[in-house]
Amino acid sequence: MLNQSWQPRQTHMSATSTNGKEPLIAVSRLKKAYRTPAGDFYALKEIDLQIYPGEFVALAGRSGAGKSTLINMLAGIDRPTAGEIVVNGHAIHRMSEGELTRWRGREVGVIFQSFQLMPMLTCLQNVMLPMDFAGLYNSPKERSARAFYLLEQVGIAEHAHKLPSAVSGGQRQRVAIARALANDPTFLAADEPTGSLDSKTADAVFEVFQNLVAQGKTIFMATHDRELASRVSRVVRIDDGEIVKDTQLHR
Ligand SMILES: Nc1ncnc2c1ncn2[C@@H]1O[C@H](COP(=O)(O)OP(=O)(O)OP(=O)(O)O)[C@@H](O)[C@H]1O
Ligand SMILES: [Mg+2]
Repeated sequence: MLNQSWQPRQTHMSATSTNGKEPLIAVSRLKKAYRTPAGDFYALKEIDLQIYPGEFVALAGRSGAGKSTLINMLAGIDRPTAGEIVVNGHAIHRMSEGELTRWRGREVGVIFQSFQLMPMLTCLQNVMLPMDFAGLYNSPKERSARAFYLLEQVGIAEHAHKLPSAVSGGQRQRVAIARALANDPTFLAADEPTGSLDSKTADAVFEVFQNLVAQGKTIFMATHDRELASRVSRVVRIDDGEIVKDTQLHR
């Protein structure tokens, strides 16, 4: 079983300590301006940030502080106005749209508050979709086996053949996490992943993240939830587009 190609790809970034390691993500002098009728609005003013392999980082800050904007920059969903973003050796600020799309499909797992599953596809098919797009894991059979394996990892394999509308919110978010893991990404970027879940369900989803970090994944998660933010390894606080606090909690 272990040699099957749908098992995680090997990466050179599997360490769980920052000591003496190169950052997995290095952001320097990052700025993001949105064009508005009133002129350019700088949602990110000058961000410098390094995230190391194996870190579980919460991005905290009030509404409008710039959390989603920063997550979107690191996930290659939106582009910076100025500055540099290097992820696992890739200078993503220099990539063309096409390169960025391909890079994102293979290197980042993104999880949103609203799950964003395809309603007409089963849970299993939703998890297979990124593999289909990236052309990874050769045959449909391999992709389906890997998708099933990932649904098992997040504890909902029994719902594999249901539509998202037939499972609960917490289960949908687990499907979204399994989908984010589909191509065995370098890191996971999550934007308020527990924002629409009750506290008990949020806790269970958070545990899935903790397990992934224990397995060596790196997670950057925007959250409003102070309780959850206190349980990660590091909290970066952003206010008005600037990092105002950066706290290591434990490791
Ligand atoms: N497309 C846009 N055009 C103009 N301004 C925008 C745009 N997107 C976001 N902004 C502004 O940028 C700032 C940061 O927004 P962002 O969505 O990153 O905040 P946030 O910290 O994620 O907030 P929330 O906690 O409410 O999700 C806000 O002032 C917002 O109004
Ligand atoms: Mg947001």
